[in-house]
Amino acid sequence: MISIHALDNAEQIVQALPQGILLNTNGDKFNSMVIAWGSLGTIWGLPAFTVYVRQSRYTKLQLDKTGEFSISAPDIGNSLDKNICRVFGSLSGRDVSKADYVTLTPGRSIHVPAIREYPLTLECRVLYQQDQELEKLPREIRDRFYGHDADLGDFHTAYIGQIVDAYRIDG
Ligand SMILES: Cc1cc2nc3c(=O)[nH]c(=O)nc-3n(C[C@H](O)[C@H](O)[C@H](O)COP(=O)(O)O)c2cc1C
Repeated sequence: MISIHALDNAEQIVQALPQGILLNTNGDKFNSMVIAWGSLGTIWGLPAFTVYVRQSRYTKLQLDKTGEFSISAPDIGNSLDKNICRVFGSLSGRDVSKADYVTLTPGRSIHVPAIREYPLTLECRVLYQQDQELEKLPREIRDRFYGHDADLGDFHTAYIGQIVDAYRIDG
């Protein structure tokens, strides 16, 4: 493990985000899901990563139980493997064991394992969480993301995680 400063690799992480990076949790078991929405920055004078998680995700149950998560991003110039993107981005930890698809290594400062294949790791503890209030969103966004039958009630909760450890898994 090579320790890094929480914001050192901000450009790499933010650029990888739209293609998908991983949000890992460990409640009843290890689980990970693809995210394309997120914010890396500073709040209350602390380095922080904010994730946006729909109500229906198994990840939400785990986050609410433990208050811990980590972010795993691929090496520079790489993106998530196609199969990982499919499984971690469409199947639920309720139904599959996603630990079987990757090589885990123990977390350093939290109880969430990190992923060898996606070495850039940010370990976070939730400082604050907030449910979206749909009536405060512009109508266009509300209709697009929350207006379809399948999305009704499936709004996002924002979790602001303080980055308590950051490293690159080597070798
Ligand atoms: C490219 C991509 C980006 C995604 N971004 C998010 C996101 O930011 N927030 C979210 O709640 N779901 C997002 N999803 C959907 C979840 O990854 C997907 O529903 C996953 O199966 C949830 O897993 P879980 O039930 O084990 O938590 C995304 C999916 C893909 C393919």
